[in-house]
Amino acid sequence: MQLSAGARERVAAVHGGGGLSERLRLYDGWAALYEQDVAALEYRAPHLAAASLASAFPAPPAGARLLDVACGTGLVARELHRRGFRCLHGVDGSAGMLERARSTGLYQQLRRCVLGQEPLPAPAGGFLCLTTRSNPSNRRYKAELEAVLEGLEGQGAWQKVLAQEVECWERATSDEESTQGTGYISGVVYIYQKCPVPCLEEG
Ligand SMILES: C[S@@+](CC[C@H](N)C(=O)[O-])C[C@H]1O[C@@H](n2cnc3c(N)ncnc32)[C@H](O)[C@@H]1O
Repeated sequence: MQLSAGARERVAAVHGGGGLSERLRLYDGWAALYEQDVAALEYRAPHLAAASLASAFPAPPAGARLLDVACGTGLVARELHRRGFRCLHGVDGSAGMLERARSTGLYQQLRRCVLGQEPLPAPAGGFLCLTTRSNPSNRRYKAELEAVLEGLEGQGAWQKVLAQEVECWERATSDEESTQGTGYISGVVYIYQKCPVPCLEEG
């Protein structure tokens, strides 16, 4: 599928960095065309996140609680639903993206939550998943996300299950973004498990 000039511009704008409020504003504006544009990018994150979760949760998944962090329009929920997960909660910082996620009807709960500024909702038990790009233009944001996740682990609230680096995450929109000339950029899937009681060891 060809990436239109408009799609290339929208992707470049979001990848262009900027502060948190600017990024969320761009996602608000992108919500209506997001799925169409990421399909043209051959975006694999939702499929990869769902596959990681399915392997981390070998029991029948229908009752497994899952918090989809930065859920966007609900692409991860769609993949999870196909794999039998039914107890899906989502958070995102963009009201526009959340509105789309709500329209899927796949989430039991959806909430606006800006990571790094507000605490995550903490359902009892279950897993959370989060994905992000690991190309150069996203390094700072990725480090911020990892600091948030490490904070959750440090508080004993969540325990890391995996942080899986993936090479062909989505098509690169420029040569500078491309990993070693492959034409793709890389990304990472994070899966955490909620600690039923604080996981911190004493002493
Ligand atoms: C690339 S999209 C991924 C959406 C979805 N997980 C998917 O795979 O399609 C990134 C999402 O993260 C959200 N986001 C970015 N920074 C955030 C933050 N600090 N707190 C909450 N959501 C954030 C954006 O609004 C956007 O919906």
